[in-house]
Amino acid sequence: MPVITNIEDLRRIYRRRVPKMFYDYAESGSWTEQTFRENVSDFADIRLRQRIAVDMAGRTTKAKMVGQEYTMPVALAPVGLCGMQSADGEIKAAKAAEKFGVPFTLSTMSICSIEDVAKNTSKPFWFQVYTLKDDDFMKRLFARAKDAKCSALVITVDLQIMGQRHRDLKNGLSAPPKLTLRSMADLATKVPWGLEMMQTHRRFFGNIVGHAKGVTDPTSLGSWTAEAFDPSLDWNRIREFRSWWDGPVILKGILDEEDAKKALDVGADAIVVSNHGGRQLDGALSSIRMLPRIMDAVGDRIEVHLDSGIRSGQDVLKALALGAKGTMIGRAFVYGLGAMGQAGVTKALEIIHKELDTTMALCGERDVANLGRHNLLLPADFDTRWQ
Ligand SMILES: Cc1cc2nc3c(=O)[nH]c(=O)nc-3n(C[C@H](O)[C@H](O)[C@H](O)COP(=O)(O)O)c2cc1C
Repeated sequence: MPVITNIEDLRRIYRRRVPKMFYDYAESGSWTEQTFRENVSDFADIRLRQRIAVDMAGRTTKAKMVGQEYTMPVALAPVGLCGMQSADGEIKAAKAAEKFGVPFTLSTMSICSIEDVAKNTSKPFWFQVYTLKDDDFMKRLFARAKDAKCSALVITVDLQIMGQRHRDLKNGLSAPPKLTLRSMADLATKVPWGLEMMQTHRRFFGNIVGHAKGVTDPTSLGSWTAEAFDPSLDWNRIREFRSWWDGPVILKGILDEEDAKKALDVGADAIVVSNHGGRQLDGALSSIRMLPRIMDAVGDRIEVHLDSGIRSGQDVLKALALGAKGTMIGRAFVYGLGAMGQAGVTKALEIIHKELDTTMALCGERDVANLGRHNLLLPADFDTRWQ
């Protein structure tokens, strides 16, 4: 067993273990992948201020997100098809999150259904919805999330239409994978993955198949999104969705200060500054670079979270120091899930937690709540370079 010390180690194991189609699905961005790359490189552009001889005893990373206290301000982001990265992947990730004391967010596009995840966990999780046309389906989805005692609803607002990822088209991405000569040649090198997958019945989109009308190809993410997603979404519709849920609502996919103000107007409890991990508008700025502007616009009036590009506890610290109250990790936990199932997600969380705690200490801080700009050294034009 290799010694795993960072998230990149998990990614390397993940790549060897999981079919290429699903590795590529996670490890890519839209079009030229500029935004996907800059999400990560912009974190690296921020440096930290080392402080010494500050009492480091009794540190805490505990923090509240939408009213609940967690081990650290890091949630597992909604990620579609986790059950293809590892058999029953959503249940495994939810269990790891629950044990670690961080929120798990179940995607609409999951393999395991809401009911499946609820049955196999004991703490409430967050549920993510896309903004679909079909009112009946949406209302039932909200009701199913309520019945499953989900503690917050994450409404993803940056995917009215889907950004193009070249490799998904070339690989013929589907769940379960369609058997072609190419996919079979690849599957032949991923035997442990295949054996695990043969032992579960959860291989289709669990929240959709059997629940949505007129899904002509239940295996294809592409055709479902093309048919079901609502290109005419507007703020009134978002306000309507908000009114259907009587708990906390988190709007995910805000990347502009004007949209952040509108999120406030429709009564969101929190926003996630996000560009969908670089999977939607290629050429958009990274989330971390947009965060300061959004904090200036709404930071004192709404809880601001951030995702896209977080691969370490240092990255989490940087987002918190720029004002975020919470963060989400997508790929960082998917690597762990694909590499080692539930234990891999736990490993990813342990790595990020340790990095966050140690970095905080070396910055001379004892509590994540006290992190601020004083801990950072930013390039002079970090948030003003692109106007
Ligand atoms: C493979 C994959 C699938 C995703 N599926 C969803 C989804 O179903 N719903 C959603 O709101 N966001 C989805 N996202 C976006 C994530 O929630 C999150 O915004 C993104 O992964 C953050 O970037 P990071 O991966 O660099 O941490 C997905 C991301 C990835 C990588």
